[in-house]
Amino acid sequence: MKVIVTNSYDESCAVVAGMIRDLVNAKPNAKLGLATGGTPVPIYQKLAQMNQAGEVDFSQVHTVNLDEYCGLPGTHEQSYRYFMNTHLFHKININHANTYVPNGTEPDAEKACQAYNELLHKIGPADIQILGLGHDGHIGFNEPSDHFENETDCVDLTETTIQANKRFFDSEKDVPKQAYTMGIGTIMRCRKILVVVSGKDKAEILKQVIQGPVTPEVPGSILQFHPDCMIIADEAALSEMAV
Ligand code: PGA
Repeated sequence: MKVIVTNSYDESCAVVAGMIRDLVNAKPNAKLGLATGGTPVPIYQKLAQMNQAGEVDFSQVHTVNLDEYCGLPGTHEQSYRYFMNTHLFHKININHANTYVPNGTEPDAEKACQAYNELLHKIGPADIQILGLGHDGHIGFNEPSDHFENETDCVDLTETTIQANKRFFDSEKDVPKQAYTMGIGTIMRCRKILVVVSGKDKAEILKQVIQGPVTPEVPGSILQFHPDCMIIADEAALSEMAV
């Protein structure tokens, strides 16, 4: 694990956007693993600006997203498909047919997970996977557990996650209680992983991810075993540890 300390969250996002631009310029048909939540929003803004400025071309890129809420159609404003469309896909010259998010409207979990796994197998490992970090240590929606899930799974969101994500919904009761998420094994098979963490409220969990034991109780701790994982964090997020 390599840790990059930045002066600000904006600088972290600029570093990540720059790495994605460089990858796509070197490999125009790159496969990008994308994340949602508050953390990556400025990364997507920067990529959209770069695309509009002619600095990067996404026309041959394929993207796979980590997760989707169960029950939310892509037209729902809080679905992750809607998030990706509005924050990135509608602002860049990507072929929308090449952008993939789990199908939150498939009520049969087994079917939904199998369909996403088949797609992920067909596309192959992402060249770069972006990750945020949940306050409970989750990556994607892989919540603390007694084991690491290999492939796409239907998970019950923890109370911590529901509390953290209710800010995006009208009320807490509107937050879906389950999600489909890419498995830890699939994430670990990505070629390069960039984890963006910002703010003092993530400092304690980030310390556990970087320095604690590798345990499914802190899902992000598995990243210690990835051969090319970079944590890009501001000083506040690293304030619980000496780096
Ligand atoms: P956040 O979520 O970026 O909204 O803090 C991170 C995550 O849950 O992975």
